Amino acid sequence: MELKGKTAVITGGASGIGLATAKRFAASGANLVLGDIEEAPLAAAVKDLTDQGARVIGVAGDVALESDVFAMRDAALAEFGAVHLVFNNAGVGGGLTIGTPKKIWDWVLGVNVDGVINGVNAFVPLFLEQDEGHVVNTASEAGLVGVPGSGPYCASKFAVVGLSEALFQELALTGKNVHVTVLCPNFVRTRINESQRNMPSELVSYLEDPIAQEVKKLADAAVNSGIDPADVAQMVEDAVVANRFWILTNEHSATRITEQRLEWMRGGRPPMAKRMAPKDA
Ligand SMILES: NC(=O)c1ccc[n+]([C@@H]2O[C@H](COP(=O)([O-])OP(=O)(O)OC[C@H]3O[C@@H](n4cnc5c(N)ncnc54)[C@H](O)[C@@H]3O)[C@@H](O)[C@H]2O)c1
Repeated sequence: MELKGKTAVITGGASGIGLATAKRFAASGANLVLGDIEEAPLAAAVKDLTDQGARVIGVAGDVALESDVFAMRDAALAEFGAVHLVFNNAGVGGGLTIGTPKKIWDWVLGVNVDGVINGVNAFVPLFLEQDEGHVVNTASEAGLVGVPGSGPYCASKFAVVGLSEALFQELALTGKNVHVTVLCPNFVRTRINESQRNMPSELVSYLEDPIAQEVKKLADAAVNSGIDPADVAQMVEDAVVANRFWILTNEHSATRITEQRLEWMRGGRPPMAKRMAPKDA
């Protein structure tokens, strides 16, 4: 799909990968609908892109709520008449696998999985009806291998990979011009490790957990060593234009961990995890 003159909806569009992709798509002539739960950064992103000549609206909302995602679709149709691409990208991280309160699991799975499900339900019927459309779902390399200290996040990203593969197969059976891409980034320099800024306030006391703090320090270092979100945005555009399913921002790492898992399934050693917990924990 060429993006010029097309309309793209991007969730989590006020920051990081979503914002970089909005800038990339705007440069290619797409109309944009940015969704985000953070109203001030969303308004700033819309202003910035408008000042640069893009046609863009912002719709504040929570992707975990079906009604908010359908409202975003309706706002997009009212403004631009059609939608051709949805980038289900909003996401949060948080929570260890052991001892994490269920409400934190619900928050992470709500944003990362329900957010994608809501995007698929809101937009795929529209795309099938018009016989044109592309869905891009943001998963992660953490959707290809279990990572210590990240149970809720890994569970959510494995779910996004699984539902994207199932969607790929179902779309192929329809024979329609509707396609799906799954984005599995390695580390990218964004605010993902500050996801707690959008955490429901009754959950923030969890952040004082010493092991959670130690894991966050490691995650901070990893994210800060990551690639520029503009590079990911270019990969997203290239995959949409070329109609490719997988985007592996670090192909070597993603394929190596997948091969290691395969070896493990065949009776070999499990992929080695680095020690995540503080020595005195
Ligand atoms: N940065 C990385 O290293 C990395 C690696 C793999 C995958 N990812 C994934 O990339 C996606 C984008 O994250 P990012 O790295 O750009 O982080 P980011 O924090 O910079 O951006 C995420 C955006 O999502 C928004 N958001 C959070 N909760 C929301 C909700 N309930 N409804 C609507 N919007 C919400 C935030 O306000 C923010 O603008 C996420 O799905 C993340 O899991 C990131």
